Amino acid sequence: MRKVKVVLYGVGAVGKLIAKFLLEKENMEIVGAVDFAKDKVGKDLGAVLGIKKMFGISVSEKIENAISKKNADIAIHATSSYLKETYPQIKSLIEHDLNVVSTCEELSYPYFTSPALAKKIDTLAKQHDVTVLGTGINPGFVMDTLVIVLTAACQKIERIQAVRVMNAATRRLPFQKKIGAGLKIEEFKKGIEKKQITGHVGLTQSIAMIADAVGWVLDDIVVELVSPVIAEKPVESREIKVKAGHVAGLRQRAKGIVKGKEAIVLDFQAYIGAKEEYDAITIKGVPNIEQRIKPCIHGDIGTVAVITNIIPKVINAQPGLVTMKDLPVPAAALGDIRNYFSPKAFDT
Ligand SMILES: NC(=O)c1ccc[n+]([C@@H]2O[C@H](COP(=O)([O-])OP(=O)(O)OC[C@H]3O[C@@H](n4cnc5c(N)ncnc54)[C@H](OP(=O)(O)O)[C@@H]3O)[C@@H](O)[C@H]2O)c1
Repeated sequence: MRKVKVVLYGVGAVGKLIAKFLLEKENMEIVGAVDFAKDKVGKDLGAVLGIKKMFGISVSEKIENAISKKNADIAIHATSSYLKETYPQIKSLIEHDLNVVSTCEELSYPYFTSPALAKKIDTLAKQHDVTVLGTGINPGFVMDTLVIVLTAACQKIERIQAVRVMNAATRRLPFQKKIGAGLKIEEFKKGIEKKQITGHVGLTQSIAMIADAVGWVLDDIVVELVSPVIAEKPVESREIKVKAGHVAGLRQRAKGIVKGKEAIVLDFQAYIGAKEEYDAITIKGVPNIEQRIKPCIHGDIGTVAVITNIIPKVINAQPGLVTMKDLPVPAAALGDIRNYFSPKAFDT
């Protein structure tokens, strides 16, 4: 039985972490890498990862230069949050007969915001007999899949709330900048206007996934404006000092409205100096359920884990566009990855 072959599409911060973790996995091998960043194209993947091991794989600008058709089992895609941007990339992967697992937030549950693109991806994936999934830590796990799993123990549900609070000081610098940490309030507002600060992408997708899973018909999803979290006293990370009265990070809430009531409320907060980090899920129903994870699950570590652990479930799934709620209960895939497949799956 041969190894499970993976091609990387997007070798940025997250793609690199995934690649390094794959090196630790038994019987998985990276057979190609795509990224269009000028400082990566043409370099050996090992050099791009900054490790001693050379792969003999140079990073290509396009998938057609990275591998020939059917030469890999799955593509791990990590380039952008927005489906309009990633659609041509996902399409090219499907046309190479590759299963796809992507960190693209808007792909995690595209039926509410992009039903036409969702249909196109689903149809194309079925034509090519492959499966496509968007996932990660959030969206993909902590504010949707985990919530859905908890609802399984409820007979009735009135309201669902999920709160994620992160101390941005524990995250890498690009993330701290993305949430406006260290800016003056005016600069933060300008950043929002220019779409340099976008808030958290994925709240709409998570709400739509939860509602569909429990059978609620949504009147609407209301995503509130991103608001700055203002530092009451000076706070700092290793890289950024935030003065009192300046922006430490951001908060964003979104609500799923069912029969005129706020049935699903998601509250995302990421700022430097958060005293407590946690993921809290509260379900008001029969029975009431309160779950608190302390500290909140680390975003990067969790994303690498979810993406890697889900690979066998994606390869084993029916063809088409799937979401986390369609796949078997997620779990860590420890040990030899080939144990998750039928003995004949990787004969050739
Ligand atoms: N669902 C989740 O929980 C989750 C978790 C983590 C990350 N994400 C998302 O995953 C995405 C990747 O994250 P990241 O931190 O790794 O971003 P990143 O550091 O910007 O890396 C993305 C890489 O992909 C390259 N790229 C962009 N478009 C491309 C294209 N069309 N063809 C080839 N290469 C392309 C970029 O090149 P340039 O640098 O030249 O643009 C960059 O090297 C982000 O959108 C992030 O929000 C989701």
